[in-house]
Amino acid sequence: MRGVSNGCCHMYKISEGRPEYKDDVIRMFWKAFEPTANLDELREEDWTDYWNNQENDDFAYVALHHDKAVANVSFFASTENEIRGRPVKIAGVWGVATEPNHRRVGLVRRIFQQVFPRMREEGMVLSILDPFYIPFYEKFGYAVAESRTRHQFNPREFRDIEEDSGLVSRELTDPKESDLILEVEKTMSRFGSRLFHFKRSVERAIKQNQFYILEEGSEPVASVRFSVSRKNSNRHLKAYLSYFKSCEYFRPIVNLVSQYAVNSEQVIWYCDNQAPVRLFTKHHDAVTTQEAGSMMMRVIDFEGYCRSIAVPETAEKGVHLTVKDEHCDWNSGTYELRPEGGRLECERVAPTSPEIKLDALGISRVISGLNAPTTLRGLGLIDCSKQTASKLEALFPPDNFVSYERF
Ligand SMILES: CC(C)(COP(=O)(O)OP(=O)(O)OC[C@H]1O[C@@H](n2cnc3c(N)ncnc32)[C@H](O)[C@@H]1OP(=O)(O)O)[C@@H](O)C(=O)NCCC(=O)NCCS
Repeated sequence: MRGVSNGCCHMYKISEGRPEYKDDVIRMFWKAFEPTANLDELREEDWTDYWNNQENDDFAYVALHHDKAVANVSFFASTENEIRGRPVKIAGVWGVATEPNHRRVGLVRRIFQQVFPRMREEGMVLSILDPFYIPFYEKFGYAVAESRTRHQFNPREFRDIEEDSGLVSRELTDPKESDLILEVEKTMSRFGSRLFHFKRSVERAIKQNQFYILEEGSEPVASVRFSVSRKNSNRHLKAYLSYFKSCEYFRPIVNLVSQYAVNSEQVIWYCDNQAPVRLFTKHHDAVTTQEAGSMMMRVIDFEGYCRSIAVPETAEKGVHLTVKDEHCDWNSGTYELRPEGGRLECERVAPTSPEIKLDALGISRVISGLNAPTTLRGLGLIDCSKQTASKLEALFPPDNFVSYERF
């Protein structure tokens, strides 16, 4: 570990968040994430209420230097998530920041040493985050789990749409109507059976305006949210959170986006890979389409995770594997994983001749669903026989992690 002008690493103490550290933390977030914002305005923003608000399942750990908080890791529990229809308690990590003059002395590493056991204590079996830099979080056992798409084009590229869907669109203004959005969002799990969603952020998005619901009679069937930014005096329209209960409701979303985009130079549309945005444009080479998903996941409680999820009913064969998890040592051990009618039995067994040994990043890659275990094996990212990779793939098939959260 490198030295630091403020003293060496034993001059720091890791502590659970307390109200008296909150202003230090907000200042730190300002420098790390919002350096162009006005600090006083930032203090008034409602997300600052979430910091270590444990009544709402929001937690924070800080590193203290002479009683001043100089590094922070926050996380919240979300119980609204599902994997193949079964609820899974997830820890969403946010606010990872260290004061510039205290960086690179291992403070975030030391904070995670307390954060992971706390997540486990709180019953969270999986953790997710949106990384600034993928290799940084791989050090802590997180693997990329999400694929999402970003399309960018001039709105003149929209095809003319004859629109008579009979749907009525209206802008939501009351955060209490978040349930309408969540009802539609839940149906998006057809694009990937692992769904992460969070009521609080939908409520916040409604408060920020420009969130539209499309209804058929009184039934919510689709949604889309907008924001506008300026780049070199050009107006850019961002469209996201475009959910639709079935394909027939996608065209009305396109129609709304094209109407909203009339005065914009560019439309930037974030959506699931399968959302057929390009079908509604005139020249495909005028649409820049990029892979945009970056959410990473890590197992916090391997046994708890295996017991809470459903696996494909078609999986028949068990796997004998050894896990070595240096950050969450309670996960280390040898297990027999056995599929039983769509459920996964997970039993600790003697550490004799496992079919595969995985470290924390390896197990995260296997369960993340982004790449099939046979592909991971082919790429040399996991080390086992073809047969073992196929058995793992039956349990953990490629499967998108559907998440619209960024934090
Ligand atoms: C990213 C950040 C939080 C790291 O905090 P830190 O306290 O300096 O991190 P640590 O000293 O605990 O470093 C942990 C490991 O990551 C490495 N690391 C630290 N900063 C890194 C960076 N910016 N890029 C790549 N690796 C980095 C360290 O070398 C260390 O590796 P090692 O344990 O193998 O030696 C800090 O640089 C920061 O506040 N950045 C601005 C805000 C930000 O981007 N936050 C992340 C939001 S997702």
